[in-house]
Amino acid sequence: MGSVRWAFRCGSWTPSRSDWLFAARCVQREEKDRIGQFVFAKDAKSAMAGRLLLRKFVCERMGIPWSEIKLERTPRGKPYLAAPLRINSDSVRFWSFNLSHQGDFAVLAAELGMQVGVDVMKITMPGSSSVPEFFRIMTRQFTEYEWSIIQSPSSEDQQLAAFYRHWALKESFIKAIGSGLGFNLQRVEFHLSSEPLTQGQVLRQTKMHLDEEEEEDWMFEPPSLPPPTTFTLLSFSELIASASPLTEEDPSYWESFQMKAEAPQRQRDTRTSV
Ligand SMILES: CC(C)(COP(=O)(O)OP(=O)(O)OC[C@H]1O[C@@H](n2cnc3c(N)ncnc32)[C@H](O)[C@@H]1OP(=O)(O)O)[C@@H](O)C(=O)NCCC(=O)NCCS
Repeated sequence: MGSVRWAFRCGSWTPSRSDWLFAARCVQREEKDRIGQFVFAKDAKSAMAGRLLLRKFVCERMGIPWSEIKLERTPRGKPYLAAPLRINSDSVRFWSFNLSHQGDFAVLAAELGMQVGVDVMKITMPGSSSVPEFFRIMTRQFTEYEWSIIQSPSSEDQQLAAFYRHWALKESFIKAIGSGLGFNLQRVEFHLSSEPLTQGQVLRQTKMHLDEEEEEDWMFEPPSLPPPTTFTLLSFSELIASASPLTEEDPSYWESFQMKAEAPQRQRDTRTSV
């Protein structure tokens, strides 16, 4: 099995005390501390789900016992398996994995023998500005050609959907190469498949141009409509099925989680796209 697509519905996850404390024990101490610092519960839950997805993947698909897994981040923030590195194991050398969490979902994509990047986007109305003003602020993120496609539908809803679809494609590429914010987004231009999105169908016709040359070596799986049908949706029990505690229970971690508001009040949502 050379391809993994997992999703966890962290937005509607309401962890019990024992679930949250157990989850906290099963991630590395520095990640537990980082998650504890989020102001809003939605961010803490999605980051926690992300860590559990990563460890579940490394444990179950790369065959490394949970307690031996040591994940670190590149200087630009991309998680990778730092230890144990069994030099002769193909599965350790050739798996690539990436994580995204936004809105209702935390998702993991992994590929054997190929670099992978994943991005999940929640389609939201711009908070305080109008859609044209929002697009104006974002001008430099897309090429002229991409803007012509994004702005071609007559309704603002459809324009926003096209905007976020392009956005997620750029992000997934940036995340596959691990470059983070430093990458000039004008260098990549997407030419989307003209097929309409339908439930459960993966479109692979999207092409990417890098520095004006079409790239043949990249494959894009643009969105399935929510829920993400191309991903296997995991329950919390499945998420922690292979987990084993790394640290002692810390009751204060639950107390501080309980004090957090779910999300900032002014968040206005429409729907979610992967
Ligand atoms: C991390 C980054 C690459 C994506 O951030 P994001 O879309 O807000 O967040 P996502 O939920 O998709 O991904 C976050 C996860 O990606 C992973 N990640 C972090 N840095 C990464 C990097 N440099 N490369 C790949 N993956 C990275 C992490 O697992 C992170 O989750 P964690 O911190 O809980 O472990 C962001 O730093 C970035 O640079 N974004 C580009 C911003 C931009 O201008 N976009 C315009 C697109 S048109």
